[in-house]
Amino acid sequence: EKGTYPHFMLKEIDEQPFVMRNIISKYKDDFDKIKLDEDIRRAVMGADRIYIVAAGTSYHAGLVGKQMIENIAEIPVETHIASEFLYNMPLVSENPLFIFLSQSGETADSRGVLVNVKEKGFKTLTVTNVPGSTLSREADFTLHTFAGPEIAVASTKAYTAQMAVLAILAVDTANARGKEMSFNPLQELAIVANAMEVLTDQKEKLEQVARDFLSVTRNAFFIGRAADYYVCLEGALKLKEISYIQAEGFAGGELKHGTIALIEEGTPVIGLATQEHVNLSIRGNMKETVARGASPCMISMEGLDDEGDAVVLPKVHTHLAPLVSVIPMQLIAYYAALHRECDVDKPRNLAKSVTVE
Ligand code: M6R
Repeated sequence: EKGTYPHFMLKEIDEQPFVMRNIISKYKDDFDKIKLDEDIRRAVMGADRIYIVAAGTSYHAGLVGKQMIENIAEIPVETHIASEFLYNMPLVSENPLFIFLSQSGETADSRGVLVNVKEKGFKTLTVTNVPGSTLSREADFTLHTFAGPEIAVASTKAYTAQMAVLAILAVDTANARGKEMSFNPLQELAIVANAMEVLTDQKEKLEQVARDFLSVTRNAFFIGRAADYYVCLEGALKLKEISYIQAEGFAGGELKHGTIALIEEGTPVIGLATQEHVNLSIRGNMKETVARGASPCMISMEGLDDEGDAVVLPKVHTHLAPLVSVIPMQLIAYYAALHRECDVDKPRNLAKSVTVE
């Protein structure tokens, strides 16, 4: 039920702080340590390479997950689009672990890959919001994302929940491998939950950003580098699917290799800067677009912010920045769709779970 909310999407955006707290409580033991099934821990430890397979928003969460697992647990990870993997399977390592990321657990493209890799005898883990779903039943192991039912076609809370669970998995693996960890995901996710709340309380301001930048445009670009690039892919997908504005997410450095040709007077360019090592270079890329007439909207993180940034995110751990930076993007997409009088919860041509190939 959506209660007093006009749309499920807005309700689900607002639920994200609670989802984070729920995940913390489900994955914490009595000694405030990570609680995880021993068999799953062994499966991850035994893998020489992890393959994350997913579609749409879950694929975008998988890109962030790759970075987390590689940086924190130091296991190589590849993230693949399920429908591509199905017909264009890369060479696979000797002892792979396949992780299927899926809100619904019913996505046909992902299931196709699951069936294939099971036939080859590889180990499989499904990270899903619906335990008991097909992907969950058919994989060797399941991790639950505990986001609660997600009704709106545009995925929001399932995305942040998937990344939270992958962060916990990454740290658990690092601990099991005896690595010294200063990053405690259970504590840091609590900080993320508070930061999410600060942002979901800024609806009026984000509605204004949507009105100023997106109410008349036909297209929009999202640019970022490193983890911010992955969030830009997600921000663009949110905007496309519910507002029908043609939106693309780009790696900042890639713009000059072609896409910058599309920038003209007034083209909205949303820039994201939460990662210190690329802050200056992404700001340089923004300036290049402004010099060609772009209308810039900069989203940055406290400590990296500059005068004139449209949105400044409360500071959270770098590994978890994507969980926070996506919130203004979800809200901006929501309000852009509203201004354009689109059907926010049921966009045209889309289904909540894609159970055909
Ligand atoms: O249920 P899944 O996570 O497997 O679904 C994957 C995609 O179909 C889904 O994320 C889709 O891209 C959403 N509409 C995005 O908002």
